[in-house]
Amino acid sequence: MILKTSQNGQELENGSEILEFIDVPEEDALKLYSPVTNALVVVKCGSRHLLGFNKWRRRFEIFGGCREEGETLRECIVRETEEELGLKDVAFEYIGLVHYNMAPSYFSKEWHEEYGALYGLTVSEDRLPEIEKARTDKEEIERLAFYDDIKGKEVVAQIDEYLLGLYDDVVPTIDVAKELLKEAAGLNPGPWERHSENVALAARMIAKECDDLNPDKAYVLGLLHDIGRRFGVSFLAHVYDGYHFLLERGYKDAARIALTHSFNLCKLEDYVGKFDISEEKQDELRSLLASIKLDDYDYLIQLCDALALPEGIVPVEQRMNDVKSRHGYYPQDKWDRNLFLKEYFENKMGKDLYEVLMQTNKN
Ligand SMILES: [Fe+2]
Repeated sequence: MILKTSQNGQELENGSEILEFIDVPEEDALKLYSPVTNALVVVKCGSRHLLGFNKWRRRFEIFGGCREEGETLRECIVRETEEELGLKDVAFEYIGLVHYNMAPSYFSKEWHEEYGALYGLTVSEDRLPEIEKARTDKEEIERLAFYDDIKGKEVVAQIDEYLLGLYDDVVPTIDVAKELLKEAAGLNPGPWERHSENVALAARMIAKECDDLNPDKAYVLGLLHDIGRRFGVSFLAHVYDGYHFLLERGYKDAARIALTHSFNLCKLEDYVGKFDISEEKQDELRSLLASIKLDDYDYLIQLCDALALPEGIVPVEQRMNDVKSRHGYYPQDKWDRNLFLKEYFENKMGKDLYEVLMQTNKN
């Protein structure tokens, strides 16, 4: 999930405002907040934000709409996306809940507070012609356009411009990620390059089996999790260096994974290997780990890191024994946690992990 701190007082055109962005799990949103009236989705084609021109409101907006009676948030966004963009069977990423203070309007005569879910969706850029053909709601959405083409030239709903920022370029594209890995492997050649590719392949296979994970994003995160090794042979330093390397390029999610992949219990002492960075840098990592809320992508790369050798995917116990033989130890709680992660994703997929991954070794 993409996390942002709340930005109070974001003004809407009619005086309505965003009160806060709430980082509540999707399954709890309807239980804990009321009324949750709508679900919206920020759509990206490749790396570009897509908007629709609303014929009645005469402005460009993001997609989605009001919940129908009895609908879950996900059912609502699935229906709206099919109506407005003709897209079916796509992987939505739940971002969080937005708390609005709404001005009186045609629909409600009073000022009132309400909530809406926000999702992100990335499809490849070459799907635009297919979208144009399949979308049925042309009555309301007159035409589509990329935000970077119309910015400053056409009217875009102010609030939606803010919401776009909540689903921004936090991971690079697959092509960029491949280039970054290739360049890094050129600087510090080693089996870690093949290991990274295998983590990426495994992550993509697992994500394909999970409704709420984006396989392309999982693949990119796998490719880049060890990118800190571009700076030379290192241990804990690769985590620190990888995190900062990706963060400086604006890839916040990928940076987080470069950090969290080594700490499946979310504490610095989890690290198996030499602590080859200064005390100051260790403290920085400690406080980062304390402030991060891990999501399924963190768990996924942690698991895949514990499955992938340069030669291919192996059972998690074999990979942990491999680490143990190189470093002389492997903490029991870290071992147990990896087995827990295996079970976690097996439950999520409803399938045996090794059956899913057998295809990775064939590819
Ligand atoms: Fe790794």
